[in-house]
Amino acid sequence: MKLLAPSILSADFWNLGEQIRACEEGGADLIHFDVMDGHFVPNITFGPVLLESIKKHCRLPLDAHLMIENVDKYIPDFIKAGADMVSIHIENNHHIHRSLELIKSLGAKAGVVINPGTSLKLLEEVLHYADFVLLMSVNPGFGGQRFIERSIERLRRLKDMVMEINPSLLIEIDGGIKEDNIMEVAKAGADILVVGSGIFHAKDIKAQTKRLKELLAASEAL
Ligand code: DX5
Ligand code: ZN
Repeated sequence: MKLLAPSILSADFWNLGEQIRACEEGGADLIHFDVMDGHFVPNITFGPVLLESIKKHCRLPLDAHLMIENVDKYIPDFIKAGADMVSIHIENNHHIHRSLELIKSLGAKAGVVINPGTSLKLLEEVLHYADFVLLMSVNPGFGGQRFIERSIERLRRLKDMVMEINPSLLIEIDGGIKEDNIMEVAKAGADILVVGSGIFHAKDIKAQTKRLKELLAASEAL
């Protein structure tokens, strides 16, 4: 089954609880949580304190995407706060094996993230021991950017690599996914689809979540 992961980066924070509840009711599978530190990416978002509050009320798994420096220092805090999945970038983590093992040892699923401009070849080793891989289809830092078309081809190539190296590993994709391209992206090999503005900028968040889940189900029937 294809999984839908609303990214709260595009939520209205005044109404965050209500909006997450609408995603749950619409059939979302995970909540994607974008952590930015103003160093690895130009933007700053939120940290473990917010994640902990969400965890108290939300029954969906929480998927923390860390766009930060010094991941090893913060991984334990996010897992203690309730992250079920934690992903870290390959671009700024020299000891990625150690960091992924740290995530797993603390009981969360470990993901490796790759930016649009980074060669997929760098993933060859890491696919052996990650639980999931997150392919960025925009440059990380902001919600609401346009999907980079080349990501479809990269996704197909990544799917081939995964089938060869570690077929149980899930592929997540993040950035610029909307109603008009979600089926194509799912068919190209994505298992988990992150959608930020494509859900939270809709008038009816619950209905939009439901609609995207239906499109994902339809993509599997094809
Ligand atoms: C970008 C974030 C994404 C982003 C997706 O740095 O990792 O999760 O919120 O948002 P949309 O769907 O609006 O591109
Ligand atoms: Zn993200």
